[in-house]
Amino acid sequence: MARIEFKQLAHTYRSDATDLQTYALKPMNQVWRDGGAYALLGPSGCGKTTLLNIISGLIRPSEGRVMFDDRDVTDLPTTQRNIAQVFQFPVIYDTMTVFDNLAFPLRNRKVKPPDVARRVEQVAEMLELSADLKKRASGLSADAKQKISLGRGLVRSDVAAILFDEPLTVIDPHLKWTLRRKLKQIHQELKLTLIYVTHDQTEALTFADEVVVMHEGRVLQTGTPQDLFERPAHTFVGHFVGSPGMNFMPCVLDGEAALVDGIHVPLAAGGAVPSGSRRSRRPRPRARNAAVREPGSSKSAFGRSFSRSDRKRTTEHRG
Ligand SMILES: Nc1ncnc2c1ncn2[C@@H]1O[C@H](COP(=O)(O)OP(=O)(O)O)[C@@H](O)[C@H]1O
Ligand SMILES: [Mg+2]
Repeated sequence: MARIEFKQLAHTYRSDATDLQTYALKPMNQVWRDGGAYALLGPSGCGKTTLLNIISGLIRPSEGRVMFDDRDVTDLPTTQRNIAQVFQFPVIYDTMTVFDNLAFPLRNRKVKPPDVARRVEQVAEMLELSADLKKRASGLSADAKQKISLGRGLVRSDVAAILFDEPLTVIDPHLKWTLRRKLKQIHQELKLTLIYVTHDQTEALTFADEVVVMHEGRVLQTGTPQDLFERPAHTFVGHFVGSPGMNFMPCVLDGEAALVDGIHVPLAAGGAVPSGSRRSRRPRPRARNAAVREPGSSKSAFGRSFSRSDRKRTTEHRG
């Protein structure tokens, strides 16, 4: 397992790009702890797959460095990075048996046959595939095929990290829930560095120790599910995490109240601040919520404000 670090990493798919706004990934520094279970959460198109492919080496970043345990791997090909990656749709050999599919990554690395058998049986048991080991993969359902893909990702214990790119998309909802719990359990047993990409907050929040929220090519916040829910660092995080998302209303602080559209709304205990000061409130619909701005200022206290059209786009991309 490895600690993965991005140093001033950025990526654009355009060869002539000069404007950072057009970059698929804007410059970022990010650390992925050795043995951490991360969810990479954000709407479709925000750069999740690009980021994952940069870790595995399928894409070389336009700028910056990728470090594994302080070793610079930016120019190393996928084969030399020792990463297991599971994609959205099954990547398996249809003509092989389930056993041979699971054994493939191990045999490829010349693992001894008794060790291959032991490990395959262990992973098959975790994923409830034991009864199918002798069956040919071609005859199995889409769910079972994707479980084989997950198993192929999990079978090696010597990998630097396992990357999952929305791996449960083709799985039926009940099995999805079961597999998510299994992945969490597997992480607790094997202490692998896992990065799990999803646009679904439920998946992210139930699976991960830490959630990395992305929007428009940027990492906006990294934190525990509770941090994100209770202390969002950005309006987007407030909208995207939690159901329903936060509401934001411009207001002005006035002693122990906030002035919202001319109406005094008392602040919660401990919320009193000097009049006119810039302050964010606990912004969940259950509480009284407001992103606060200074008198005469149009700028939200959360910095970049998050527009209604952004929210609409986000909602459309969910599910
Ligand atoms: N091969 C590519 N060529 C050009 N643009 C791409 C390519 N792959 C992704 N993009 C663009 O990069 C941005 C991020 O895409 P992606 O990483 O696939 O996002 P996500 O996985 O979050 O949906 C999007 O604007 C997408 O259109
Ligand atoms: Mg993607």
